[in-house]
Amino acid sequence: MAILVTGGAGYIGSVVVEDLRKNGEEVLVLDNLSYGHKQAVDKNVTFYEGNIGDEKLVSQILKQHEIQACMHFSAFAYVGESVENPKIYYENNVGQTLRLLNVLIENNIKKFVFSSTCATYGEPQKVPIDETHPQHPTNPYGWSKFMVERILESYDAAYGLKFVALRYFNACGATRKCGEDHDPETHLIPLVLFAAQGKLPFISIFGDDYPTLDGTAIRDYIHIADLSQAHLLALEHLRQNKNSEFINLGNGQGFSVKEVIETARKITGRNIEVKIAPRRLGDPSRLVADAKKARQVLGWKPRFPDLESIIESAWAWHLANPNGYD
Ligand SMILES: NC(=O)c1ccc[n+]([C@@H]2O[C@H](COP(=O)([O-])OP(=O)(O)OC[C@H]3O[C@@H](n4cnc5c(N)ncnc54)[C@H](O)[C@@H]3O)[C@@H](O)[C@H]2O)c1
Repeated sequence: MAILVTGGAGYIGSVVVEDLRKNGEEVLVLDNLSYGHKQAVDKNVTFYEGNIGDEKLVSQILKQHEIQACMHFSAFAYVGESVENPKIYYENNVGQTLRLLNVLIENNIKKFVFSSTCATYGEPQKVPIDETHPQHPTNPYGWSKFMVERILESYDAAYGLKFVALRYFNACGATRKCGEDHDPETHLIPLVLFAAQGKLPFISIFGDDYPTLDGTAIRDYIHIADLSQAHLLALEHLRQNKNSEFINLGNGQGFSVKEVIETARKITGRNIEVKIAPRRLGDPSRLVADAKKARQVLGWKPRFPDLESIIESAWAWHLANPNGYD
């Protein structure tokens, strides 16, 4: 039986597709390529170009293949854009997900792995953040993911949908084949590496007066290979007919912006210019996951928790693919 992967041409989805196939799974990808890259998906994987909210297309896919579970990565994920244009976030991330879920339920497909986010927590009241931390997102992107989480709970209670909603912190790094190629890029590690490659003249540090050791903000960076493995374990969890769960996926360690830049300088051997800029509105000083539940419930063990491994893998990918997937 196959696994339907939505957003499988995106950064995280493409790595999970790679790992599922290594595990001998049959995989189908549905992606509208609004942000993804067809080249990120192996030619031997059945690929459908289209919207997850296209009920006719999804029904047709489900009729043509025997599908056991859906892994749902597709979404728009730019926080700033979601504030400026919330309607496209609610339509794409909530409306289309709802239509996808309805077709899945009608076809009796009741195993679902969902890409949620630490943005559902909003301003941290305590750090590290565990899954019981209150959820009050500070932007429409976070709310769109929060809403899907609530829909999943209701669908579990009413229709027996079993899900694992994985609340990612900052996904980063690369495998040999797949790496991060967002356009526009907003994530710190690829931007720092762009500066190392000379694609950016400098990297801005937004605030160096936070109450942290070096004054810069601390975030939780999780290697994409470790993140991906957790999805395979989540699938196994669902196959064992266990309960639905909300689970943080983070490293459990925080690294400051300055630590990221210093490590990138060491690994690339290149000069990376920095400029100090004012703090960004709503940027907390520390966002770090309590990732114990992933270990306890899924048996997850991160293999690359150190910043060096993460940046080394990303740098190797950027050197091998200087123009990303183009
Ligand atoms: N990257 C991170 O650090 C991070 C952190 C927290 C949560 N997430 C979540 O993880 C998921 C994957 O993130 P990513 O970084 O790989 O993003 P991405 O933009 O690289 O991948 C998303 C993919 O979904 C596709 N897509 C979007 N809307 C679609 C639709 N309506 N129908 C079909 N395909 C559609 C895009 O073309 C793209 O290939 C997203 O849901 C995101 O919100 C990511």
